[in-house]
Amino acid sequence: MCGIVGYVGTNNAVPYLLEGLSKLEYRGYDSAGIAVNVNQQLQIFKAKGRLKNLETILDTSLSSVVGIGHTRWATHGAPSDVNAHPHANESQTIAVIHNGIIENYMEIKEWLTHDKHVSFKSETDSEVIAHLIDYYYEGDLLDAVYKAVDRMEGAYAIGVIAKDEPNRLVAVRKDSPLIVGLGENENFIASDIPALLKYTRNMLLIENDEFVDLTKDEVKIYNSLKQPVKRDIYEVTWDIDSAEKEGFEHFTLKEIFEQPKGVKETILRRLNAKDEIVLEGVHLTKEILEGINKVYIVACGTAYHAGLVGRRAIEQFAKIPVECDVASEFRYRDPFVDEHTLFIAVSQSGETLDTLQSLREAKRKGARVLSIVNVVGSSVARESDDLLYTWAGPEIGVASTKAYTTQLTAFYLLALFMGQLNGKLSDARYHEVIKELKLMPEKIERVLAKSPEIQKLAASQFNNEKVFFMGRGIDCDLAYEGSLKLKEISYINSFAIAAGELKHGTIALIEDDTFIVALASQSNLYDKMVSNIKEVKARGAHVFAIAKEGSEQLEKTADEVFYVPNTMDELVSILAVIPTQLLAYYVSALRGNDVDKPRNLAKSVTVE
Ligand code: AGP
Ligand code: GLU
Repeated sequence: MCGIVGYVGTNNAVPYLLEGLSKLEYRGYDSAGIAVNVNQQLQIFKAKGRLKNLETILDTSLSSVVGIGHTRWATHGAPSDVNAHPHANESQTIAVIHNGIIENYMEIKEWLTHDKHVSFKSETDSEVIAHLIDYYYEGDLLDAVYKAVDRMEGAYAIGVIAKDEPNRLVAVRKDSPLIVGLGENENFIASDIPALLKYTRNMLLIENDEFVDLTKDEVKIYNSLKQPVKRDIYEVTWDIDSAEKEGFEHFTLKEIFEQPKGVKETILRRLNAKDEIVLEGVHLTKEILEGINKVYIVACGTAYHAGLVGRRAIEQFAKIPVECDVASEFRYRDPFVDEHTLFIAVSQSGETLDTLQSLREAKRKGARVLSIVNVVGSSVARESDDLLYTWAGPEIGVASTKAYTTQLTAFYLLALFMGQLNGKLSDARYHEVIKELKLMPEKIERVLAKSPEIQKLAASQFNNEKVFFMGRGIDCDLAYEGSLKLKEISYINSFAIAAGELKHGTIALIEDDTFIVALASQSNLYDKMVSNIKEVKARGAHVFAIAKEGSEQLEKTADEVFYVPNTMDELVSILAVIPTQLLAYYVSALRGNDVDKPRNLAKSVTVE
């Protein structure tokens, strides 16, 4: 989950490294460091905490034409100066940055310590990489990296520089993301595209088990057999501003307000003049679909919650049974997957290792893999048979918001497409849903216009530590997402529950002023939800209800009611989730948290 960056060129590497790290901080930020080569001496600077702590220890005169930098999200060894990257061998002739986990690092560490009398400074797994490369180094850095990597198991994106090769940067990836940026008399590596956008739009997307050898004039890619690999240049079309805050206090709030645009983009790129769905990256045919008897939706966190809603859409519109699972569980329960399974991976970053490994497991078992991804060219995207991009634009805030609603939109389009393909969805019903789906961006705008109502509610509840979310049907799926959002950015220990489950134990928790968010948007479950609200009110709870316009009965039951524009039950999830996103945001901001970079979290979890 960390961020890596590297430079080799004719200018001073230090500003490039610090700029790149500032764009990567959202990926992990418990410590940071850089290594540069000054007069053929490697100099390493590292600091616990945010990037600014590193900047304060750097000498402004520091200058080098080659360097590597790292923002860390610790997996082995607490956040500290000594555990921060880059790591070096004892004589500091090799410096390394690493994103991922070296699964067999203990075995390597023991061998180096006992057989080779190497002494380690840090508690990390990553440090073994520097000593291994040093052990194999005989004057050619790329060669030494090949030999070292051959001993390693696990996930890694690695950047390496050497004291005796002051104009060279070597990198390699397996499972953790790595891209190369191509400049004029300078070249770069990074974990993702925004880190380099200021300097170049020309990127090379590095695949698994590929090695990269960079100088200021040349970039060479090799496969695991050391054979040269040709890779087309990927030109980035994003404008850098879209990755900036544009006047909002936080990326998270900006991204909540970008949802009309994201949902609109996700829809309109897929509808032709006759409102037929055209999914350019999806190659499902009627014949292929006839051979599918089960769908698996697998993801993590918010993406998983989007999958819960997607499951209902596919079962409703395409009448195919769907199972939904968190990726970290899916892999270890020997799932029933075969050539008749459609495996749908959902991932904003496209680099979540649990999801990526589940996708690979499903492929190994013969499934067809379709991915719903936001980051173009990401690992999940590149390893799928069918691809459905959510055009949400870069999502910088660690808490996923616009990715969620565009994932829902992608699922609706996919479910409608599948229902039309296998004939389970009538034309009349298809056009009814499509017509309503196209109105969503404008209806989201209307929800956002009422954000002051949520701001006011947050002001009265932001110190309340007794919070939970409840709902039935799709509203239960939304309750899980609303609770996760509040947890991860406000640090309030909220939870979500199917409202019908309350009476089976959880109602014991209700006491005066317990704050309950009750989602009541489903017509066929509305009366039941009103009863549940009455049950908790009778025990002293404070209830904030979310419902469709016209549900006046709630006025007499709940303490506050937030109305979303009327729409069909199947699609209301896109609207009803927004007040829960806003609630989480305002509560977090009122509690003085770093909303965009919540403690302990990283934007992309590229470790298992
Ligand atoms: C969501 O707000 C969290 N940041 C987290 O649960 C996230 O959804 C999860 O890690 C999956 O990430 P992905 O969509 O990039 O795969
Ligand atoms: N496993 C390494 C460490 O704990 C790298 C973690 C990361 O990817 O940030 O230092």
